[in-house]
Parts: sequence; structure tokens; C-alpha cells
Amino acid sequence: MSSRSPIGVFDSGLGGLTVMKEIVKHLPEYDYLYLGDNARAPYGPRDFETVYQFTLQSVKWLFEKGCPLVILACNTASAKALRTIQQKDLPLLDPTKRVLGVIRPTTEVIGDYTETNHIGILGTKGTVDSGSYIIEIQKAFPDVTVYQQACSTWVDLVESGDYQTPKAIEPVNECLDALLVQCEGIDTILLGCTHYPLLLPLIKAHVHPAIQIISQGEIVADSLVSYLKRHQDMSQRLSKNRQIQFFTTGDTKKFGQAAGIFWGEEVVAEQAIF
Ligand code: DGL
Repeated sequence: MSSRSPIGVFDSGLGGLTVMKEIVKHLPEYDYLYLGDNARAPYGPRDFETVYQFTLQSVKWLFEKGCPLVILACNTASAKALRTIQQKDLPLLDPTKRVLGVIRPTTEVIGDYTETNHIGILGTKGTVDSGSYIIEIQKAFPDVTVYQQACSTWVDLVESGDYQTPKAIEPVNECLDALLVQCEGIDTILLGCTHYPLLLPLIKAHVHPAIQIISQGEIVADSLVSYLKRHQDMSQRLSKNRQIQFFTTGDTKKFGQAAGIFWGEEVVAEQAIF
């Protein structure tokens, strides 16, 4: 591992793979190391301090594995831990390393998608309660009004594999209705949790086709492409052997099976021990 300097991608569980998939499509030459903290997912209902501690532990682990750059492919961690890690921990751990999140790149462009200036955000309770999307979208697009809905059961539906069964239909429809009832003019729904794109077929089946459903993967990938162009020093530090490793704090076999379904090829996961 020592000669390798992969891009680290972190999520509480499987959801970050929806982001990493797009990143790998855009930047295939790099090495990647994915870490899912499945043993402690979901993060959404956890308090600020716990999400911060778990995320910091995961970032440190990725740094120890040689990652000079870590993407928090998790909205909950980006909302609750990113700023403190960037401002307080990074200068002490290693000021040359970088940790980036998914909320800022998303809020910088999301206003371009709406014509009615009414955007709905679906996220975990942690992300919704943090108000991060409302604050950041206000800064970038002051004319846009944001409506939010926490979907407290959706992460579990994905982690358990139930997202592919009829069991998921009712909870998905309930959350969508709770969002859409807030404003008739919503023309754009952002999936503000990286697990939610796995529910896309069910979401699309319930929502009027005129409403756009936006996943973050491509947005985050575009933003990383631009970041690495602007930061050649970082781009040069990253190793480029097209190798991808998957680690989980949970059951490796379960992770491999679940991840392989939407990764499109076999995923062999290794055990992460903190
Ligand atoms: N994928 C994480 C996110 O984007 C979900 C988290 C969780 O509740 O574990 O927020």
C-alpha cells in the first residue's frame, strides 16, 4: 500500500459507491480506496459529536492507508463533520492532505436545474436538521426556495437490500408525498443522500415526469475533475494504476454482494479494522 496514493472515498455504508462510480467514470486513471462504515450505519439519526468522531476516525484510517485526498461521499458526514475536520483536525494531522465533501459542489450548481426556483431536498434527518442545504443554496442562489424532507427509513432500505423489493414502495411514496405537498411548484428534487440513487426507479415511478430528480454522483465527479485541474500538485501526488479497493467495517461478504449489484462487476471487499 505504501507506494500507492489512492483517492479515498468514504461513506457510512454503500451509498458512497453511487458517487465513486461517477468519479471513476470521469477519472479512470487514478487509484481508489473505498471505505464504508457499514457496521455503524446509518449515520443519519446520530448526534453531531458521534458523526464527527466516526468520520474523523474513518478519515484518519484512509490517511494511514496512504490517501492524500479523501472525498466524504456522505451528506450527513459532510454536514456534520467536514468543516471541523478541515479547520481543526487537518492542520494537526497533515496540512498537505485534503478532505472534500459533497454538499458544497452540489449547492454551487443545483440552482441551475430549476425553472420555478422551488427545489426539494431529500436527505437523512442529520442532513435536513443541519440546515446545510438551505444555508448553502441561499448563498449561491438567493432566489431559490428550498423545501426539505427527511427520509428516515431509506438508508436502511438500501443497506438491507430491501430497496429492490415491494417493501420499499410505501416508505418511498410517503416521503415523496411529504415533500411535494409542501409546494406545488417544486420542479427539481435533489437526492441529498448518496444512498438514495439506488431507489431511483421507485422514485421516478411515483413522481410526475416533469419533475427532475437529481443525483449527486455526476455533480461531485465534475467538481473533482475541476479541482484536480486547479490543483496539479495534488493530481501529481495521486497514484494512477486504475486499481480500486473496497473496505468495510461490516461484513465483507455482504458488502461485496450488495455492492456488486450496482457496481456492475464483482466486488471483493476487505475488512477495515480501526
Ligand atoms: N449516504 C449517507 C448520506 O449521504 C447516508 C447516511 C446514513 O444515514 O448513514 O447522507
